[in-house]
Amino acid sequence: MTTLAIIGGTGLTRMDGLTVTRREMVKTPYGAPSCPIVFGELGGRQVAFLARHGSTHRIPPHRINYCANIWALHSVGIKRILAVGAVGGICERCSVGTIVIPDQIIDYTYARESTFFDGGDDPVEHIDFSYPYDDNLRSALIAGAKSTDGLNVVEEGVYGVTQGPRLETASEIRRMAADGCTIVGMTGMPEAALAAELGLAYACCAVVVNTAAGINGQKVDTASLPASISSGMNNAVRVLGNSLQSSVLVEA
Ligand code: HPA
Repeated sequence: MTTLAIIGGTGLTRMDGLTVTRREMVKTPYGAPSCPIVFGELGGRQVAFLARHGSTHRIPPHRINYCANIWALHSVGIKRILAVGAVGGICERCSVGTIVIPDQIIDYTYARESTFFDGGDDPVEHIDFSYPYDDNLRSALIAGAKSTDGLNVVEEGVYGVTQGPRLETASEIRRMAADGCTIVGMTGMPEAALAAELGLAYACCAVVVNTAAGINGQKVDTASLPASISSGMNNAVRVLGNSLQSSVLVEA
């Protein structure tokens, strides 16, 4: 049984190269996850895969049942999650096509079910979330990205998570840049916090698919998005394949 899962985001609803052994639709106390968990082998390693937006990419970021997804992964024995997400680049280094392995998060989302500690009979628990991403998993992703030919890799970053589904205004991005955000996406939270609440190690492979709103006085180039998502996610799959070779990710 594997303890490692990949969560795929926009443009990554199935993993090319994954030899599927079985699929399981897990029932959770929080409702249905986005889709069945797919189990299989990638690059000689057993992994589980879950498509965050559903197998046909129909679930928008604010409607994803993050609690059910993370609970489902935990309930099948997953202990480590590599999460892939498409993002906009805010800082100069995060140009389109760059792979960013963020080390921090600022959460601007609202009205999402964002905790497993939601009252009831259990005592309230306030988890430590000072450093939201797991260092070992980040190292594996960084090593995987650096060993992938032809990629611009940024080894740290502050992932600002917005509510969506609309993109941001130029002023919102200016404010986020002033806050310290270097990338912006819509699905990094509450996913990371829910994983932490269940004691799962979690790291993010962010793929820059556009320059964020208002940078250099430009609107978001939405016409180019499908092509950049497609090529960015192809790169993310290569990065994951290489990261899985890292000794950090060998099953204990
Ligand atoms: N903003 C928010 N989420 C995103 C973006 C963006 O510019 N690009 C991809 N996901």
